[in-house]
Amino acid sequence: MIRFDNVGKRYPGGHDALREVSFAIEQGELVFLTGHSGAGKSTVLRLVSLVDRATRGTVTVIGKNLAQVSRRGVPSLRRQIGQVFQDHRLLTDRTVFDNVALPLVIAGVRRAELEKRVRAALDRVGLLARERAQPAMLSAGEQQRVGIARAIVAKPPVVLADEPTGNLDPQLAAEIMGLFETLAQGGITVLVASHDLHLVQKMRKRVLVLDHGRLIDDFRPSSMKQRVERSETITPPLPDGERARGEGGPPIQDELL
Ligand SMILES: Nc1ncnc2c1ncn2[C@@H]1O[C@H](COP(=O)(O)OP(=O)(O)OP(=O)(O)O)[C@@H](O)[C@H]1O
Ligand SMILES: [Mg+2]
Repeated sequence: MIRFDNVGKRYPGGHDALREVSFAIEQGELVFLTGHSGAGKSTVLRLVSLVDRATRGTVTVIGKNLAQVSRRGVPSLRRQIGQVFQDHRLLTDRTVFDNVALPLVIAGVRRAELEKRVRAALDRVGLLARERAQPAMLSAGEQQRVGIARAIVAKPPVVLADEPTGNLDPQLAAEIMGLFETLAQGGITVLVASHDLHLVQKMRKRVLVLDHGRLIDDFRPSSMKQRVERSETITPPLPDGERARGEGGPPIQDELL
């Protein structure tokens, strides 16, 4: 559903935000994208949603080579991608219902169908009872759930989230991540950028690790498990108290284990 082949992104001024990044994400996968600030996480998401274009390599989303999508084709691609933002970007002067309905209003969906879909999306995030509330009346976690309902209301095959839990406490953050898990179980392909290693680790899902624009690791729950088992069984702590590093990998991998 999302594929990068040797993708590079150079911003004007010569800064390489991404270098030779390659990965493929299948339909219904939930994948986390992590790395230090400035590593290139948001850049990856911007290339998928065509906010920016790659300078090298090929980005393929829902079977389309994005280099072949003209400017006029961008809105139709975006309609197939739901986006969740750290600050959720809700309209404060509209109700929860109207915020979630917005993508359908723009797409010209008729009223009866719109109401049905908005309620289904609100139900999915557990906020059906709050449809008449204004966003300001909701907690931070509830506001983010409204953001997720808005992202899925048009039934996009792909959902992108950029630091969706950045403003939430750990308990609420875990709930939001759990919600992404249920979206993936329903067949949506979900890519979540997060620098919260602790939370990402707890989710036990596939993780792409960026470092200064390079993809330095791509590991899946099964290989995580193997690494943990290996480090528990055959790599005891070093005598000087320094932690043994299985394959000499960078520290970020150790933190993820
Ligand atoms: N429009 C731009 N023009 C020039 N450089 C940019 C632009 N956008 C991003 N960059 C640079 O590209 C690099 C990657 O930025 P990006 O926003 O993808 O990082 P990030 O991993 O999302 O970081 P954070 O965790 O802080 O959100 C950074 O060095 C950033 O300064
Ligand atoms: Mg970012």
